[in-house]
Amino acid sequence: MRILLTGATGMVGRNLLEHSDAQNYVWLTPGRDKVDLRDRDQVRGFLKAEKPNFVIHAAGVVGGIQANIREPVRFLLDNLDIGRNVIAESRRAGVTRLLNLSCSCVYPRNAPNPLQESSLLQGEFEPTNEGYALARMAALKLCEAISKEDPSFAYKTLIASNLYGRFDSFDPSSSHMVPAVIAKVHAARFAHVAEVDIWGDGLARREFMLAGDLADCVLRAVERFDDLPALANVGTGEDHDINTFYSEIAAIVGFKGRFVHDLTKPSGMARKLLDVSRIAAWGWRAPTSLSDGLRKSYAFYQHDILNENIQ
Ligand SMILES: NC(=O)c1ccc[n+]([C@@H]2O[C@H](COP(=O)([O-])OP(=O)(O)OC[C@H]3O[C@@H](n4cnc5c(N)ncnc54)[C@H](OP(=O)(O)O)[C@@H]3O)[C@@H](O)[C@H]2O)c1
Repeated sequence: MRILLTGATGMVGRNLLEHSDAQNYVWLTPGRDKVDLRDRDQVRGFLKAEKPNFVIHAAGVVGGIQANIREPVRFLLDNLDIGRNVIAESRRAGVTRLLNLSCSCVYPRNAPNPLQESSLLQGEFEPTNEGYALARMAALKLCEAISKEDPSFAYKTLIASNLYGRFDSFDPSSSHMVPAVIAKVHAARFAHVAEVDIWGDGLARREFMLAGDLADCVLRAVERFDDLPALANVGTGEDHDINTFYSEIAAIVGFKGRFVHDLTKPSGMARKLLDVSRIAAWGWRAPTSLSDGLRKSYAFYQHDILNENIQ
């Protein structure tokens, strides 16, 4: 099978390509220099020339709250263009199977937890990433519409929880919570700092899945695509309070100091947990525990990020 993987240089894409089952397939992984996914003609030309028979769409303009607030037009427009081009041009090229990777930001901000697929579009998006969420929702709906109009096209979507793991960004200006805490606690340990601050009371709950586990789910989905649900959440099905992430990371890093809560800072939303019963009924559960996943992530930070910086 010839699989076009968009976003192959990203965190999700790289975890997919290094999964042991990836060797069962031929991968087409054009970089942005070869195919800018915002450009319909480039996408069309590539599909015509390379003729994949499966598409995994893992590209997108992804960023934190600050970037979404600063550049709402880019987050909306680039993601709309990328989604439209990859999905509609795959259909035009006659690719009958496509897996679209989406994220939990497509859920309404007030949807009840755990978030069920039936809650989609039942309320307004989180305003800070509205453009991004709207574009991702358009891609999801385009997949549904294509399959509805012609059932011989199976265009399906997996909605992933927050991720962490190998190939994460540890850049403090853009990193997500887990890599940011790893870098902060590691720095505190080696600078012999006695206290590390946690924003808010640390009681807000978060679900984070190892990106390697998402890769595992995606490869199972490729294998058994026919009976994969058309839409399903993928996560660990468990959340933990932020204090737990700090204490687990401290144990792995060897930080012996204390944590202090800065109650002048916001705690963030109370909870965001995906209901994973649909994907569990299909036969997949995230295999890696939080502590094993954090250990892998810390090893990546030490060996790949810090060594790179030293050279
Ligand atoms: N990371 C998470 O926590 C998370 C959670 C849930 C779902 N997801 C979903 O998983 C997907 C991938 O996320 P990620 O974490 O892997 O993001 P990432 O590390 O930022 O990677 C994004 C990928 O998209 C590519 N890309 C962006 N704009 C492009 C363009 N115009 N033309 C060609 N390629 C372009 C990037 O290429 P360059 O390297 O050239 O920039 C990169 O390969 C996204 O759809 C995201 O919503 C991610």
